[in-house]
Amino acid sequence: MTARSIANEAHYQDLCDLLVRAAHAYYVLDQPVMADEVYDRLYRELEELEQQHPDWRRPDSPTQRVGGAPAEQFVTVEHTIPLYSLENAFNTEELEAWDQRWRRLEPDEPDETGYVCELKIDGSAIALTYEHGLFVRGVTRGDGQRGEEITANLRTIRSIPLRLNLEQPPARLEIRGEAFLPIGEFERINRERDASGDALFANPRNAAAGTLRQLDSRVVAERRLDFFAYTLHAPDGFGDGQPAPTSQWECLELLASLGFRVNPKRSRCRGLAAVEAYFAEWDQGRHQLSYMTDGVVVKLDSLDLQDRLGFTQKFPRWAVALKYPAEEAPSRLQRVVFQVGRTGAITPVAEFEPVPLAGTMVSRATLHNEDRIRELDLHLGDTIVVRKAGEIIPEVVKVLPELRPNGTAAVAMPSHCPECGSALVRPEDEAVTRCLNSSCPAVLRGALVHWAGRDAMDIDGLGRKLVEQLVDKGLVHSVADLYRLDPALLASLERMGEKSAEKLVAAIAASKVRPWDRVLFSLGIRLIGSVNASTLAEALPSLQALEQATEEAIAAVFGIGGEIAASIRSWLALAENRQLLADLQALGLRFEGEAKAAPSGPQPLAGKTLVLTGTLPSLSRTQARAMIEAAGGKVTGSVSKKTDYVVVGADAGSKLEKAESLGLALLSETELLALVGQAP
Ligand code: IVH
Repeated sequence: MTARSIANEAHYQDLCDLLVRAAHAYYVLDQPVMADEVYDRLYRELEELEQQHPDWRRPDSPTQRVGGAPAEQFVTVEHTIPLYSLENAFNTEELEAWDQRWRRLEPDEPDETGYVCELKIDGSAIALTYEHGLFVRGVTRGDGQRGEEITANLRTIRSIPLRLNLEQPPARLEIRGEAFLPIGEFERINRERDASGDALFANPRNAAAGTLRQLDSRVVAERRLDFFAYTLHAPDGFGDGQPAPTSQWECLELLASLGFRVNPKRSRCRGLAAVEAYFAEWDQGRHQLSYMTDGVVVKLDSLDLQDRLGFTQKFPRWAVALKYPAEEAPSRLQRVVFQVGRTGAITPVAEFEPVPLAGTMVSRATLHNEDRIRELDLHLGDTIVVRKAGEIIPEVVKVLPELRPNGTAAVAMPSHCPECGSALVRPEDEAVTRCLNSSCPAVLRGALVHWAGRDAMDIDGLGRKLVEQLVDKGLVHSVADLYRLDPALLASLERMGEKSAEKLVAAIAASKVRPWDRVLFSLGIRLIGSVNASTLAEALPSLQALEQATEEAIAAVFGIGGEIAASIRSWLALAENRQLLADLQALGLRFEGEAKAAPSGPQPLAGKTLVLTGTLPSLSRTQARAMIEAAGGKVTGSVSKKTDYVVVGADAGSKLEKAESLGLALLSETELLALVGQAP
């Protein structure tokens, strides 16, 4: 089918209508009606037709969304109807105070008033003008009276209709809403900026605002902004055939029927208690959304009541923004401590005056690494801004240099390990500073705790406290020394009797039978988590096989890859590690696997690839993996497009973020159990 053979204008019109409908189903309703490949082909046909017949080209054609020549500058225009901002309430008492205030003006209003609750989207407010149903102008909020005209940029947002879905559109319609960047898109943009050396956006809101003010609309088109509509005004009425809405709820429904994306989490509430319940629900639920919100907006539903109440100088009296508890707060830096991790990595940690953040008191935050300290230009005694968003670990966002006391010292990375005093090393192309002394007490402590862990050698009774004593008293200098402990010496330790010393020695000896994959994981090689260890142990069923495999051969194992292979190779290259392996072998630990029996029984996960992240409520990693494999599934250590399911537990981190940005299916432990037919 070529464009030429059926090139008549009626066909062009039908094709254009079809593609507009398909794009609406995809971008606004999240319910695709056409395969991507089909859309792409038809889109190309539309482009060809428009090239051959420029006079046919419709202003609402999907081809009009790709951006055009860069603008010199933006023009400032006056808003015909000002964009008001909202009064903030920071807790339910302030919400109740707002409610009392408007009730004094409307004393007859019953308690069971109708409210509409909406999520407060953290983006940029935008005003859109439609004339006779066509999108003609889009303006930023600016100061509420005047904003910048950014129509070309807004045309690229697929969820903003270029033509309203209305038989007899009024002469003019003004739509207001929030343009925003989904979190996954924000992260993708920052990854690209990082790779090209551009400054990173601090958060999705800044990224959205920066993108909207891009002079080159082709850049905007690539960034996939999105838009939720929340109000409309028809200054000259709606005309015939379209009854005017009488409530905010009807406005939202009308906006949806006109073709806008309207936030689906909206709720019509009766009475303030229902509003408070909605707020509590989304205070928790917001962390699962793919876009940022910073509170909920509470509006009186009746437009009649809204009209009677009107506006103060700055705000509508009929609406309020109920904000989530602060996630950023200022504090004063007291000291920086340098922690030495299991791999010798040095992590600077800021200690500061305690501040309440997202519901808990916070007094320590990671500073990540040396570059971050430099970037912040951190001095002792500085006033810092600390952030804790939801589950995210606290971090120092910035320093307020204006408040820096005189004569304070800049924070610097130490040159020597705070634990063992050996010189620290920072490889040229790495951000991490390390202590390379494998007998550094901090490294040794970390290695021993890891070795004894539940998913590792699972040594009952060997916890952090005991490990500290063993290292401090000089009883243990390597993992191998654990297997040579003398029960009599052990019994002399704090809170250790003869009986418990014997029990511990027995538990350590019992761990010698752990299988090869566990031993491989327990060694604590960088990037070898329990999942990767099992995958490797299956493909390379002995230490000998692993030692003989080339880096390429290791990298070629399903789910492993080059970085992990390089990490193993460099670990095996160190003489002290080879000595440790020889010692452990001599002590009788297992460096060979047994052939795995083929799984039997039903295989509901046959052909599926899963990734585990976070701590599951009842299953250990090893148990979850065994269960998945018994059901025919494969478990890999990293998330990619090829992953079918990501099983998510508490404190999940970057793997969950990546899964969300790829739109992968997420499972809870309960859902996993149900899937493998082990529902409780
Ligand atoms: S209504 C007169 N609804 O919050 C009514 N605003 O702090 C004004 N916002 O400038 C706005 N989500 O950018 C409304 N569902 C929502 C909103 C919302 C986000 C933003 C908007 C406004 C700011 C006020």
